[in-house]
Amino acid sequence: MIVLGIETSCDETSVAVVRDGVDILSNVVSSQVDLHERFGGVVPELASRRHLESILPVLEEALRDAGIKLGDVDGVAVTCGPGLVVALLVGVAAAKAISYILGVPIVGVNHIEGHIYSNILYHRELSPPFMCLVVSGGHTVLCRVIDHGRYEILGRTRDDAAGEAFDKVAKMLGLGYPGGPIIDMLAKNGNPKAVRFPKARMKEGGLDFSFSGIKTAVLRFISSSPGVSREDIAASFQEAVVQALLQNTISGMDMSGDRDLAVAGGVAANSRLREALEDVARRKGWRLFIPPPSLCTDNAAMIAAVGYHKLVRGKSSDIFLSAYPVLPLSNWDESGERGVRIP
Ligand code: KG4
Ligand code: ZN
Repeated sequence: MIVLGIETSCDETSVAVVRDGVDILSNVVSSQVDLHERFGGVVPELASRRHLESILPVLEEALRDAGIKLGDVDGVAVTCGPGLVVALLVGVAAAKAISYILGVPIVGVNHIEGHIYSNILYHRELSPPFMCLVVSGGHTVLCRVIDHGRYEILGRTRDDAAGEAFDKVAKMLGLGYPGGPIIDMLAKNGNPKAVRFPKARMKEGGLDFSFSGIKTAVLRFISSSPGVSREDIAASFQEAVVQALLQNTISGMDMSGDRDLAVAGGVAANSRLREALEDVARRKGWRLFIPPPSLCTDNAAMIAAVGYHKLVRGKSSDIFLSAYPVLPLSNWDESGERGVRIP
């Protein structure tokens, strides 16, 4: 089954062609970083307009790269939330038009589910149940993947997402956007023990995360301690975030008894997080799964992979599918007819 994936939830326009949920025939990503860089974050209206300009050229390139014609597509999977509504709507409208013209099914996909499936897509030996840590610019979620499409959320951020904290701290330090990769690079030449920033975890609230406290602590530190290098601040901040992600993940793994840990989302590309996770996995005897950086960040191949698993299970949406800024990970109604119902 050939599934066309479409992703426009934030600042990447992406179209991919995936065969049978595992073979990536193409995965074209058109980044808007140049557009949002000077604002230090994504401007929704600008993102939407750029998606509109890019969607057809990106679609054409994805078909060309895959060596197929549009008529060869058996189903269309599109991110319908969570994300920026004005951005999501561009992908959803394109997907509906393709599905209507070809007479093939369309299925709405949760963006976070896409990140989780980047692991199932890339690591053929991975199958549920497993634990997944999703760490991106918009989300920080620790969840158990019980089965395809069935999730149990153990922890999520109460405020900023991990990637968002990286981006905001980079902005405070006068670095570029997105901040995560720049802090990652800078931290390699810094001392992670130079500054003790507060733990980015909740004192109460189980395995939830909180990154706003550490962000404020960095801001205060910058204005009160002018002598400390940006490298040291970056390394110390990064270490505090990594330790919070690590501690909650270890607690979740110990509680559930899982042996397989998957990590996904843009922050999964962070070299210090990877190193710390590899170390703990070796000590605990876990299998650790992290996709390559191109599948960690937003891309449509992961959306097509979710779509494939939904379509083979007989789940699809209809022409009433819309875009949803907030969308639960499971227990929502893919058939757009009645909209999204949160139980
Ligand atoms: O998953 P993603 O592409 O988009 C969202 O769904 O949000 O993640 C983007 C986020 C940005 O906040 C970016 O700063 C962060 O991932 N990121 C990183 C690294 N590479 C990307 N954060 C830390 N270290 C990195 N190497
Ligand atoms: Zn994402």
